[in-house]
Amino acid sequence: MSKSGDSSISRLSNPNRLANHALRQAFKAKLRNGSKWLCTVCNIYVYDSGKGDPAMGIKQGLTPPEFPNTWRCPVCGATRDKQKEISEEEYNQKAPGYENFKKVSGRKTWAPGIPAGADNPDALPGLAQEYGMPLGLRGIGQGFSYLNNLRALEKFRLKTRLITKHQEPDFKAEFLGRKISMPVLGASMSGLSLVSNITEEAFAYNILEGCRLAGTIGFTGNTSKDFGTPAEKSPPILALKRVNGWGVNIFKPQAQDVLIELIKQSEGAGAIAVGTDLDGAGSANSTLLGKFPYRKTTDELRELKKSTRLPFIVKGITNKEDALLAIEAGADVISVSNHGGRVLDSTPGIADVLPEVVAAIRVSPNGKKIIITADGGIRTGYDVIKMLALGADFVLVGRPLAREAVPSGAEGVKRILDYLKQDIRTAMIMTSCNTLDEINESIIFRNH
Ligand SMILES: Cc1cc2nc3c(=O)[nH]c(=O)nc-3n(C[C@H](O)[C@H](O)[C@H](O)COP(=O)(O)O)c2cc1C
Repeated sequence: MSKSGDSSISRLSNPNRLANHALRQAFKAKLRNGSKWLCTVCNIYVYDSGKGDPAMGIKQGLTPPEFPNTWRCPVCGATRDKQKEISEEEYNQKAPGYENFKKVSGRKTWAPGIPAGADNPDALPGLAQEYGMPLGLRGIGQGFSYLNNLRALEKFRLKTRLITKHQEPDFKAEFLGRKISMPVLGASMSGLSLVSNITEEAFAYNILEGCRLAGTIGFTGNTSKDFGTPAEKSPPILALKRVNGWGVNIFKPQAQDVLIELIKQSEGAGAIAVGTDLDGAGSANSTLLGKFPYRKTTDELRELKKSTRLPFIVKGITNKEDALLAIEAGADVISVSNHGGRVLDSTPGIADVLPEVVAAIRVSPNGKKIIITADGGIRTGYDVIKMLALGADFVLVGRPLAREAVPSGAEGVKRILDYLKQDIRTAMIMTSCNTLDEINESIIFRNH
């Protein structure tokens, strides 16, 4: 054996040296494999410390807490403390979305004004909101309506009840005759093509398919960018066809003849239900595009309801007066919503107005059971339970799904819905609710 061979054996047989060698190897492997990170503000930027980010001046091996404090997320401008470590699996789901973002936007570094989806107004101080526009996923104006949704939910507390017989809670539900895994539905959203690199059809499909994969039902929105598109080529209807009708189309309140044609096409595509988002009447995006949706009379709503065999949803109700008129027009589902605070600033939070609407229409004047959905600010399964306790039969979740549908597709949408299921289960166990029927106002109280 050569001398050098001898010495390498003796180096490695020394226990301290052996340990150091193992540590060095492990460090090198860690460097090679890298830890994986995700921007929690835009949910698009991913970082692999094994590769670094040369375009942003970040060397291989550094993790976000070690980035210079002047660093900003290249997609949305968030700071380094908004980056969280994620699993390899989540990274692999997200990475294609970021690659696609770079390709389509041509951007590698952050420039102010990319409305990539800051949801939390506190997360991006200094990122100016264009006057009169809901920035990315944010609310309109000063964001009061948007924040009121969150604050209204925040005021309610859940009451634990733990000295009862343990049972696995059952939170499966049935929406318009379809069995679903939980009383949570994917909110109708559109317009993401205006603020990201996704097409309207792909976005709608990701929501519908993600909801289907999670055992529930997604809704689609309707952007005024599509007004004038032949109804059969309308992106939400094309997306609905791709999931064999497993979804709901909500259309903007536009000309009656156009709406009736859209409803007809949706019915032909096998939709579970159709509806209109009355609160879209003031949509800033539509105004920007020079296409104006408008309010509807009770008679016009009745005509829409009569134009289809499908259940008819009236979305955007925030008070008992409108709720009663919508029922008079024949609505089957009342969707209590302020459009996530994206149309009119300074509306109340939905959790604050829901009880008044529920009290007015729980037993409808004609004895028909009206289904009530609520949305706005629902971020966890605990929020879901609060809305159900306040009288909603189902809740719609918006932004958390949109933030996933753009970069990680249907799988990402499913992942969020699966998290919600876990919270719902925990909340039901902790409040001693074994079934959905047992969730009522007795399990919440309001903190004044
Ligand atoms: C980006 C975005 C686009 C939306 N587009 C529509 C739409 O086209 N039609 C509609 O009925 N509602 C639309 N909404 C409102 C949602 O259906 C829902 O009411 C709202 O997102 C719920 O609030 P949350 O996002 O806090 O969960 C949109 C919401 C967002 C965030």
